[in-house]
Amino acid sequence: MARCYCHWRRVLFYMCTLCIFLALLLVYITVMLCTVMNKTSTSGTPVHGLDAVHFVAPGSYPKTFWDLHLHGDAFWNRLQRTIDNHFNPILCPNNTKRAFENGTFNESLLTQGFSKVINLDGTSRNLDQMPKQIQDFITHMQRRDYPALLQPDGVCGAGRKEEKEAPLLLLAIKSTEQNFLNRQAVRQTWGQAGWVAGPKRTGNGGEGGGEGGGYVRRVFLLGKGSAEELGGNALQMESKLYGDILQWDFKDTFFNLTLKDVLFWSWFKDSCSRTHFVFKGDDDVFVNTPKIMSYLRDQLKKPHKTLRDFMVGDVIAAAVPHRFSESKYFIPDSFYKGSYPMYAGGGGVVYSGLLAKRLHDISKRLTLFPIDDVYVGMCMVRLNAHPVHHDAFLTFDFSSKEEEEPCSYHTILLVHKRSPGEVVKLWAHVKKTQARCWDVPLRGKQKEEQTGRPSKVSLSKDTTV
Ligand SMILES: *[C@@H]1O[C@H](CO)[C@@H](O)[C@H](O)[C@H]1NC(C)=O
Ligand SMILES: *[C@@H]1O[C@H](CO)[C@@H](O)[C@H](O)[C@H]1NC(C)=O
Ligand SMILES: *[C@@H]1O[C@H](CO)[C@@H](O)[C@H](O)[C@H]1NC(C)=O
Repeated sequence: MARCYCHWRRVLFYMCTLCIFLALLLVYITVMLCTVMNKTSTSGTPVHGLDAVHFVAPGSYPKTFWDLHLHGDAFWNRLQRTIDNHFNPILCPNNTKRAFENGTFNESLLTQGFSKVINLDGTSRNLDQMPKQIQDFITHMQRRDYPALLQPDGVCGAGRKEEKEAPLLLLAIKSTEQNFLNRQAVRQTWGQAGWVAGPKRTGNGGEGGGEGGGYVRRVFLLGKGSAEELGGNALQMESKLYGDILQWDFKDTFFNLTLKDVLFWSWFKDSCSRTHFVFKGDDDVFVNTPKIMSYLRDQLKKPHKTLRDFMVGDVIAAAVPHRFSESKYFIPDSFYKGSYPMYAGGGGVVYSGLLAKRLHDISKRLTLFPIDDVYVGMCMVRLNAHPVHHDAFLTFDFSSKEEEEPCSYHTILLVHKRSPGEVVKLWAHVKKTQARCWDVPLRGKQKEEQTGRPSKVSLSKDTTV
């Protein structure tokens, strides 16, 4: 009897020890998880109001991406979640494959998701309270298939008919009907199509196989101007003359800019498949094209895998939507909740042709978002690709002291914002100082090489942003 009692005591003792051990383990795991999550959520400085802080982020993504109901009640998030769930490899293993084989499948998903969300209780009440501009966006956000009204005569924009090699760069410049002077300034200066040499000490570099040069093509991306009397057939004549106008049949408004990306990718895929890189930017920037040529020549030496993901610009991380209604970028939180993904500022960004095609494919499963550069960032997250920051993209201009240095414009790839008159003057200035400044390094280059590479974060493809 005593032995039996003893035996049970021993069993009890072991059980208790085990329980205490398990409890301690649980506490440890919880603490670890909390630490990790806190780290993720505090990485990157949040942006408040207009003071956009731009720097290279270690990667921004929702801290609790496994939470299926994150930011559940905002209109855009709801809409996107219905689509993301369809491509969740665990919930619907067959859909990923189907979507790539069948474009109609994606389209019908978007339509289904839209009618589901719009018919939910409370959605219409919310919609009525949103600003007019957002309401207008929502009314038209399902449509993307706007036909082209004007197209370049060359296969892939204006450029040389007979090139000895594939174009290195396509300049795709967002413009509007009334910005004729901007387009003229770009055509005469940094946007010249044809052979462009890299920076050289003497005169123009020779064509074909020259170090640091390449063929450039050019296209302007336009919607339909609001003022009918301004348009007329002036744009048609301009298109005939220069062959670099790509205009679609939608109203050219700020919230319709995303359509220019989506439709451009589609056109690019059909017309420019050989082009190595794309510059996409505004018509009020100054670009140092020769410097870009030599920079891109260097990138071309990188492995295929790197080029597949290649995007460089002024990277903005952990930005949050503007919540004050006076802002041009105003997004109410009934429309979108959460922070924005890391993105490259829309003033000017360069990406590879390979990436352009992948962006085209992935955009079919991403609900349109009214702010174009943020939308591109959202596409990048789903491709598990990250834009690289480069200090030579000045989408917020020089500091005044820096601009006065004699070779300042040879240290940059892009600067925003410059009037057509300024662009012409700057181009002449850059040509004049070419011999003296041809080998100055790009701005912030050393820094970029040491710290500029954003750390890779692995994300599941179905992340709800
Ligand atoms: C997924 O596809 C496999 C074969 O391709 C099929 O056997 C299976 O029934 C499909 N599952 C669903 C949920 O449709
Ligand atoms: C593509 O998807 C649509 C909608 O799901 C379907 O009706 C159609 O039959 C599919 N086509 C092909 C070729 O699989
Ligand atoms: C976008 O373009 C369409 C087609 O022209 C137009 O009806 C709509 O109002 C525009 N959307 C916005 C938000 O301006």
